[in-house]
Amino acid sequence: MSIEQTINIGLFGFGTVGQGIYQVMKRATNAHAVIRRICVRDINKPRKVTPEPELLTDDESLILNDPDINLIVEVVDSPEASYRIVTSALRKGIPVVSGNKAMIARHLPELIDLQRRYDTALLYDASSCGSIPVIRNLEEYYDNDLLLEVKGILNGSSNYILSRVFDHNEEYADALRRAQELGFAESDPSFDIEGFDSLFKLIIITVHALGVYVAPDRIFTYGISSLSSFDIQYAREKRMKIKLVAQVVKVEPSKFTMFVMPEFVSPSKYIYSVDDEYNGVVIRGECYDRQFMFGKGAGSLPTASSILSDVMARRHGYRYEYKKMNYLELPGYTTDVELRVYLRFTDRMLPDSMPFVRINETYISEHNNYIIGDILLSDLIACRDLLSSPGTFIANIPRFFLDKD
Ligand code: HSE
Repeated sequence: MSIEQTINIGLFGFGTVGQGIYQVMKRATNAHAVIRRICVRDINKPRKVTPEPELLTDDESLILNDPDINLIVEVVDSPEASYRIVTSALRKGIPVVSGNKAMIARHLPELIDLQRRYDTALLYDASSCGSIPVIRNLEEYYDNDLLLEVKGILNGSSNYILSRVFDHNEEYADALRRAQELGFAESDPSFDIEGFDSLFKLIIITVHALGVYVAPDRIFTYGISSLSSFDIQYAREKRMKIKLVAQVVKVEPSKFTMFVMPEFVSPSKYIYSVDDEYNGVVIRGECYDRQFMFGKGAGSLPTASSILSDVMARRHGYRYEYKKMNYLELPGYTTDVELRVYLRFTDRMLPDSMPFVRINETYISEHNNYIIGDILLSDLIACRDLLSSPGTFIANIPRFFLDKD
């Protein structure tokens, strides 16, 4: 695409984000980009934003086979439809901008291969942390060996719920409903609250942070659905908040670990003050210590602004080169890492069923029990089913880089 050429966009999906893109493109006159066609499942569905009727189609091929369309923007809800559209477009050599983190996280190795084979590009900064430009920064600015950790709040909905519950004493279910009404939550909100949305973003971030792809089922993921008022009270007494945190950490020069779970966050941490649907990402490295990126992580217009940024980047022929994947020495993924956790349980046999390395504190009462203990991440993965039993909640008590803060 030459810099003078108009970008003719074929847009797939006209839900919350698709409608945001339509609005943002109207404001972005310097983009020289026009939405030529919008493919939706149901043309007649009532929508908050109404596009010109002649733009709408339910026939994917009208976009994929249109020789005038030189960029596809894909923000459909279904990961399966997203995979079909994105891979078809890449095979035709058409560049794509996508926001579909579930699809990208599951298929990234193949998507990288398709970009190389068909000499085209897939950009997806909108897939991770909404409006915060995490991916392109990790790919370009942090293209060196100094990076030690990327850690943060990557899911707006769960953070919104936790903020409302912690700071405004609202009921969990009310806060979840509001997150859905405001357009932050996934169509299946369990992806948000069970940590999978954060997991998908973390996988994508790790490819651009360390050059290594790790498949979703190899990564410990625990959400906030079983958080109770006892846990909230416990955190408050310690002057902490509980946040759903995703992290990838270099634990040795040649090894890194990664996981998603609730974490006790003290007021000295940047992410302590990240509230509502905002996301916050701490990037730590040798020589520069910590840096912090903060912004709206969900919602129609913030996500659309990130899509616009990728559209503009395509004007200049930008593509991810996945430079770190070609480094001579890549770190290996390990789960052989000891974590300190808070485990609340009702079944008093539960701690005995888990191979704790040591138990530092035990609290047993009529209604609530917890322990603070140290356990290998690999054993937490092995105990996933036990941890999803009723009355159980686990949260990380951070130990990495404590002496540095
Ligand atoms: N459901 C997602 C969130 C949307 O709440 O963060 C943005 O990816």
